[in-house]
Amino acid sequence: ITNEELYRPNFHFTPKTGWMNDPNGMFFYKGLYHLYFQYYPDDTVWGPMHWGHATSTDMITWNEEKIALYPDEMGYIFSGSAVVDVNNTSGFGSLENPPIIAMFTYHNMEKEKAGEIKTQSQAIAYSLDEGMTWTKYEANPVIENPNIKDFRDPKMSWDPIHKQWLMVLAAGDRTMFYTSKNLKEWTLQSDFGSDIGAHGGVWECPDFFPIKIEGSTKTKWVLLQSINPGGPNGGSATQYFVGDFNGKTFSITDSFANDLKQQKALWIDFGKDNYAGVTWSNIPDTDGRKLFMGWMSNWEYANEVPTEKWRSAMTIPRELKLFSKKGKYRVYTLPVRELSKYVSKTIKIKTLSVKSETTIAKAPSIDLTAADISFTLEDLKEDIYLFKLHNLKGEFIEFGLNNKEHFFFIDRSKSGKTTFSEKFASGISKVKSDDLLSQLEVRLIIDKNSIEVFYNNGETVMTELFFSNAPMNEFSMKTEKYTSTIKNITINQLKLTK
Ligand code: FRU
Repeated sequence: ITNEELYRPNFHFTPKTGWMNDPNGMFFYKGLYHLYFQYYPDDTVWGPMHWGHATSTDMITWNEEKIALYPDEMGYIFSGSAVVDVNNTSGFGSLENPPIIAMFTYHNMEKEKAGEIKTQSQAIAYSLDEGMTWTKYEANPVIENPNIKDFRDPKMSWDPIHKQWLMVLAAGDRTMFYTSKNLKEWTLQSDFGSDIGAHGGVWECPDFFPIKIEGSTKTKWVLLQSINPGGPNGGSATQYFVGDFNGKTFSITDSFANDLKQQKALWIDFGKDNYAGVTWSNIPDTDGRKLFMGWMSNWEYANEVPTEKWRSAMTIPRELKLFSKKGKYRVYTLPVRELSKYVSKTIKIKTLSVKSETTIAKAPSIDLTAADISFTLEDLKEDIYLFKLHNLKGEFIEFGLNNKEHFFFIDRSKSGKTTFSEKFASGISKVKSDDLLSQLEVRLIIDKNSIEVFYNNGETVMTELFFSNAPMNEFSMKTEKYTSTIKNITINQLKLTK
């Protein structure tokens, strides 16, 4: 078995060949989810960036399409976004055939080599065939570089509250807010963030949208702001802010500002492998979900992971929700419900007693290279709740809750190949948990070489890769002092029909 077969995910998007990083230009139109992505077709390491393209009816099964945008004399095609210009405000199409508008960053390598600061500018392209082929606008760039070195990753959206086009852009240590009437002329309105949040690296790939508070009719605005390096467990990660927007300026909510005094930043995902994630545009109001997907890797080692022919997958698509609990705003994420379409077999166990190490699921009755497992633990009194995915070679990845010292963790140091980068397994990933949790809900998505763990309905999420030398074939839980009872175990085997 070649590494390619060993590591190619079963139900996460990967390009057939070549290098991939950030998701770009995601929009939904006429029943199809579009995904573009940072792409270098000629090698498996980062290089001259293109936009690759894939389409899906459900965000799970993807068809790779022709490359959408090629680099040209103005530069590489860096990250960006796309919107459906329903009212043809840009004039590129018509009301009968609305144009799709993409905005991306040109990164000019010649200028970079010459030591110039103004290497990055924003440009647009339009599609009159529902995103399949694109024409670059003849008057590019639409936003010139104002003498800021890192000035990139425009994320456009329709602002339904102030009835305007909106765009957020990462500018080094802050997010810049622009508005437009026609998607061609953009006005800088404000900036945010130079004095708040995590600043261990450069800000990249922002996203900004209104979102309903769960269980209420009120709306808040959420700013996603990826950063590299400076993530909670090293390297790249995505932080977020919750606040209000008056059509020009974003200001964070007082309670959220207080939270940030205590923990500096809040993160969409505390594992090492979820970066540059953004949401789909043009999701119909009748659906109303905020649908998100990230790049399932980390700049610390993305270029070195041991796959052949292709590099990198996307995370499972996720739904974002905003909860307010005791005045604290938190963004929760869970896998999209479309995943359940692919359940080929289910095992349900009402209660399972765990003393020392106990098997929860095992091959061949469940194939643990494509599984969606959930369960609950109540009356927590153990110090450590340890879950373990292992194979016949004695390799394993461990994760769980240390309820004495109050943190969730993932340890992939014994998971197989780790030495391709010293950063890959140099530490145990951790995130603080609430003091003395009394109940723990776990949802675990396993796809060959990745785990995505969603604790307590998506309140805390950790996504990590591993590269074992044989498929994982057993999932178990371990306790030390007491007998624990796992409740309502659902083990779903997933299968893509392709
Ligand atoms: C984030 C990023 C973006 C940039 C792109 C280049 O991962 O660095 O800021 O546009 O990747 O591929």
